[in-house]
Amino acid sequence: ETLWDTKRVIPMSVMQLADEAAPLPEKFLKKAGERPITAYNEFCKEIPVISLDGIDTQKGRERIVAEVGRACAEWGIFQVVDHGVPQKLMNRMMENTLAFFKLPLEEKMKYASKPGGFPVGYASGSHRADDDILDWRELIAHRALPKENREKDYSHWPENPAGYRETVVEYSDTMDALVTTLLGVISESLGLPRDYIKNAVGGENAEQKILLNYYPQCPQPDLTLGLRSHTDYGTITVLQQDEVGGLQAYKEDRDQWVTVEPIPGALVINLGDQIQILSNAKYCSVEHQAVVNSNQTRLSLVTFANPSSMAQMGPAPELLSEANPAKYRSYTFRDYLPICFAHKTKKHYDALVI
Ligand code: SIN
Ligand code: FE2
Repeated sequence: ETLWDTKRVIPMSVMQLADEAAPLPEKFLKKAGERPITAYNEFCKEIPVISLDGIDTQKGRERIVAEVGRACAEWGIFQVVDHGVPQKLMNRMMENTLAFFKLPLEEKMKYASKPGGFPVGYASGSHRADDDILDWRELIAHRALPKENREKDYSHWPENPAGYRETVVEYSDTMDALVTTLLGVISESLGLPRDYIKNAVGGENAEQKILLNYYPQCPQPDLTLGLRSHTDYGTITVLQQDEVGGLQAYKEDRDQWVTVEPIPGALVINLGDQIQILSNAKYCSVEHQAVVNSNQTRLSLVTFANPSSMAQMGPAPELLSEANPAKYRSYTFRDYLPICFAHKTKKHYDALVI
């Protein structure tokens, strides 16, 4: 069994390639316009960092709602601190993730992702069978929520390292609580009831995916990317990164790529397409990418909150008026990606523009 189809012909993991000298295998060379511009460690100090301390008091909540609203409109990406996720759990996630990627390829291949559909399990370089140019990363992904999803099939959840599965399950539930809090704050920042977005995306039927990324050090980091530029297609994303740095966001009004500063204990929040559409483009689904470097490997732990497949999505009617008519048409979330792929638009959500 191999991760690579015939077009992909690199019969080894990216991690193994990382130990070899330049030049980079051709399959990883990004096109000229897609290569990194801003350095992985040239950190942008302007991306908002918001403390969630005091969220249970009226005054505290008002401050947080105002700060989050501004961050969503101006950046589409921000960091939160004092978020209540135990540092010990965050550390345990990092340790288990690292331990998994350090396993021999043979062992990782026991959890290999199968071609087609959303990848669950382990993959390397890319999870898309038709990709001509690969990303400089290894990954493992899980369908974590609703609970029935994960409980029905644990075959892609490593039992090695011991403690991995339990830790990811605990992390998944902890992140779900944080997502609920954040969706409440984002709803209120739009002038909507606290539970508005949570209900809109399907309440307890909303889906959560966990994606763990390992970016090996790279002999020629200027020629490739750890993860190509994209927007997240779901609701919101919570990202825990280590101290290396490499996550970059595109600040459209400045035509500039900015690097998110790794802040110990902080979590990065970025908005997905569904929030841009629900807010009728008041908030933005930020384009982002991960760059790599020649000195250090990097880990990022990503939690995607997505609507349930049956959720009816589109601009929130409560926000629309004659002065603010709907910019997007409505759809069932299940149809979102198929519609976008059929339209071949550069940005997914452009396929829904009225
Ligand atoms: C992602 O966009 O899913 C991950 C980016 C990162 O590794 O920082
Ligand atoms: Fe992303």
